[in-house]
Amino acid sequence: MTTIIEPFRIKMVEPLRLTTPAERDAILRAAHFNPFRIPAADVLIDLLTDSGTGAMSSEQWAGMVRGDESYAGATSWFRFEAALKGLTGMPFVLPTHQGRASERILFELVGGPGKVVPNNRHFDTTRANVEHTGAAAVDLPVAAGDDPQAPHPFKGDLDPDRLDALVAEVGRERVPLVLVTVTNNSGGGQPVSLANLRAVRAVCDRHRVPLFLDACRFAENAYLVKLREPGQGHRTAKEIAQEMFSLADGATVSAKKDGLVNIGGVLLLRDPDLARRANELLILTEGYVTYGGLAGRDLEAMARGFEEVLDEDYLHYRIRSVAYLGDGLRRAGVRIVEPPGGHAVYIDAGHFCDHLSPDDFPGQGLVCALYRHAGVRVCEIGSVMFGRTDPATGETVHPAMQLVRLAVPRRVYTQSHIDYVIEAAGEVFGRRRAIRPLRMVEAPAVLRHFTAKFAEG
Ligand code: F0G
Repeated sequence: MTTIIEPFRIKMVEPLRLTTPAERDAILRAAHFNPFRIPAADVLIDLLTDSGTGAMSSEQWAGMVRGDESYAGATSWFRFEAALKGLTGMPFVLPTHQGRASERILFELVGGPGKVVPNNRHFDTTRANVEHTGAAAVDLPVAAGDDPQAPHPFKGDLDPDRLDALVAEVGRERVPLVLVTVTNNSGGGQPVSLANLRAVRAVCDRHRVPLFLDACRFAENAYLVKLREPGQGHRTAKEIAQEMFSLADGATVSAKKDGLVNIGGVLLLRDPDLARRANELLILTEGYVTYGGLAGRDLEAMARGFEEVLDEDYLHYRIRSVAYLGDGLRRAGVRIVEPPGGHAVYIDAGHFCDHLSPDDFPGQGLVCALYRHAGVRVCEIGSVMFGRTDPATGETVHPAMQLVRLAVPRRVYTQSHIDYVIEAAGEVFGRRRAIRPLRMVEAPAVLRHFTAKFAEG
């Protein structure tokens, strides 16, 4: 059988509201051509993010009712801690309200002016949290990671030679840790191989630098290792995930992805001294160490989510349905980052809008066209998100790729929703020359994509 079926059935539904193209045009203008400013009720299919947008299982909802809301030492906390220790082998589990809270605590402790944090590719909040402390965030992807068409199976890999050279150049005392983001979100949702993690670990060991994972999508990464890495096919996704964590000294996790919950995060540590200092900061801004800014019911839902996500029927469906979206777009003539990764398909907006230059924000133009045409909301990952003004020359420095991400929420949309998205993207592609340049007319200094305003022409 080749039909992909959702390995679940639906017992609660939420209506979607259809709008007309004229309504959407007005909504888009009122939102200053920024999808983050569009009210969700005006969106038909929402592929803005896979973060916190998934559907929970009946078991998770049952856990929500059982949640123990005691301030300290709640039963739900112990269940959560045991689930995370069992999965990751990390002795210190700190609950946080989401991934960036884990990042903020970690980098407040290890960052600072003069420090350098290497990563395969920082996500936006990770980069912002590193830079907020005065440290430098350096991306070291393998060469194939910057080439949307390269057929490499592990474009998320971090280049160990570049890492070695960087640490040798700046000195190990300036590198508080090396981060590896699994899967690599900013670079196309591409997985990192186990072989690469081991090679990066060896470089870290040689320089005596700790290795951390940004493990938001650890289960999708583990399943892609099982599918793509020679010699890994016979192992379970859980075994592979456990080996990934065993290679690391700590991890920041947003449970809003592979934790299968709507809110929650984790900071995992091995070093007792770092854990002690992190707990102090946790209490200062998140909450007591056994709830970290969350309700007991959230901890319950996470404990179950981190187990459910490693179910191989689920992971098979997940990876296959993202690949299905990629297949459909490719057939419609749309060029995507190949091969599709775990949580999203990334359109090569530079190719889609080859009549526009990076200064015209081609990705943002495509985002607006998809919304206007079909009510589909997606997200730019290009010059809006990662472009920056060089303080010396005043010129805009553009990232290597102009991408548009179609992120698929977990267990939310069916195959016909995805067929609709494919059809919409194909139609927009047919009249892509009509996509007009955008100008950024207002933007904050950091994380500008969330609130920036644009104008056409
Ligand atoms: N690291 C990565 C790789 C992420 O993708 C995200 C969030 C974070 C850290 C921060 O986690 O949102 O819980 O604070 N990514 C979302 C996205 C927002 O749309 O990709 P958070």
